[in-house]
Amino acid sequence: MSTLAQTYDAIAHRYDQGDGINDWIALPIIQHFCPTHTRTALEVGCGVGRIAIEMSKRVDLVWGIDISKEMIAYAQRRAQSADKPIRFVQGDALTFDFGSRMFDFVYGAYITAYFDVPTLLRRLASLTFRDGRILIVGGMGSPGSGSGKYLGQVQHYAECLRFLRRHGAPINLPRFIANVFHRVQCLGSKEWQAVEAWNRARRGENPEANWRNQFLATLPGARIEQITPKLACAIWDQS
Ligand SMILES: C[S@@+](CC[C@H](N)C(=O)[O-])C[C@H]1O[C@@H](n2cnc3c(N)ncnc32)[C@H](O)[C@@H]1O
Repeated sequence: MSTLAQTYDAIAHRYDQGDGINDWIALPIIQHFCPTHTRTALEVGCGVGRIAIEMSKRVDLVWGIDISKEMIAYAQRRAQSADKPIRFVQGDALTFDFGSRMFDFVYGAYITAYFDVPTLLRRLASLTFRDGRILIVGGMGSPGSGSGKYLGQVQHYAECLRFLRRHGAPINLPRFIANVFHRVQCLGSKEWQAVEAWNRARRGENPEANWRNQFLATLPGARIEQITPKLACAIWDQS
């Protein structure tokens, strides 16, 4: 069986297409919860780098780390046209040597399934400055089954649209619909079946089920913001 890095290498091109698989939903959430005093930021599991590049428009120094070399190759290519240098590095977020570097804002989207969550959070806390913030955006587990699965997806995207509207994110409806199709297509692809097979083999049927409770238990004072019934973010301020 392939490693996780190889599995994500094989699907990286789909993350690079259009507005990505998750980025168009996660970006406004991350921007909304990014503290105004943020000068340095780290994105964990940064994929093709779209969000980190957007963040570099408001943050002095942005780093992105991903275990997939293909994801990082796409990110580095995209970063060539960014206004500021962004450090995209390939490596395991749990063990990569950041030297003495720490960050004001450490965030990641759709990453919890790939980690032992308490271990990940302790690592991220060690990289976060006092007064800094950790933010994790993630799904809420299995999409369900039968016809309810499709109805649930439609409701989810309608809720996402409402969230984007509420937070003043620019909405281009044809583009939104194209994004939804791209995401659905990607999640139906053989490359995504391989990601799910990796998850099932290592983490069981529903690897995202418990991440919020683990976040609350590991980082005292943390809070959960429910974005839609199927999407949440967890926030912890280092004090
Ligand atoms: C579901 S994708 C999400 C990518 C991006 N955050 C997004 O929302 O589109 C999960 C990402 O986490 C990365 N990843 C998994 N385990 C990792 C690890 N130990 N260290 C760094 N990145 C990791 C994968 O390579 C993949 O790019």
